[in-house]
Amino acid sequence: MDVYEAVASRRAVRGFADEPVPRETLERVLSAAARAPSGSNLQPWHAYVVTGAPLAEIKKRAGERIAANDPWDEPEYEQYPPALKSPYRERRSAFGAERYGALGIAREDWEARQRAAAANWDCFGAPAALFCYVDRDLGRPQWSDVGMYLQTVMLLLRAEGLHSCPQMAWAKFHKTVAEVLSPPDDLVLFCGMSIGFEDTTVPHTRTGRAPLDETVTFVDGP
Ligand SMILES: Cc1cc2nc3c(=O)[nH]c(=O)nc-3n(C[C@H](O)[C@H](O)[C@H](O)COP(=O)(O)O)c2cc1C
Repeated sequence: MDVYEAVASRRAVRGFADEPVPRETLERVLSAAARAPSGSNLQPWHAYVVTGAPLAEIKKRAGERIAANDPWDEPEYEQYPPALKSPYRERRSAFGAERYGALGIAREDWEARQRAAAANWDCFGAPAALFCYVDRDLGRPQWSDVGMYLQTVMLLLRAEGLHSCPQMAWAKFHKTVAEVLSPPDDLVLFCGMSIGFEDTTVPHTRTGRAPLDETVTFVDGP
């Protein structure tokens, strides 16, 4: 698979088959992803790759919290500005319409949306997950490095026939994840990532993108 194909075929998959992901495949992907760039080669990512009983335990504990209407954990970072300005606000609305429209959920059906969102904490059925932490002393450039690392992982997963879904949703239950993984105190959970083979029976739509001239400015010389 070439890079264009990997980029084009990667999407946030929200329905995974039971089929396990071989440990060797995950090791191959994570070893290759370590070549991701980072400022001064800090390599600020801390990835926990979780399968089997520990992942089942994380899902179970998260599920119990949802069933008990337990409030989310105190956030360790702000996921979005409280008042999202244009054009981001409109893009978020368009995404919500695409995501929930594909599931046949009406815009005003808050409960159905919440039920669909709860699948995040079952990793959409995925048999493997990556929980990505960053040191709380590091700043925005290093968080950006972590993003590049995660995209590298997701593209390499495509080369292995695997799919993924990055999930900030897991940061809302960071204490539950920490109970099972016991990361050092100086790490903040940026996001989880569900990993597995796609369950092709789950409906989805392809998300759109802004036209190139909204996000890219070419400044050409003579
Ligand atoms: C950092 C990050 C966090 C995300 N968190 C979630 C999440 O918690 N749950 C979810 O279903 N999708 C999540 N997504 C997926 C985005 O919704 C998705 O990437 C976006 O809508 C574009 O769609 P596509 O990835 O299918 O092209 C996240 C994506 C990123 C990059």
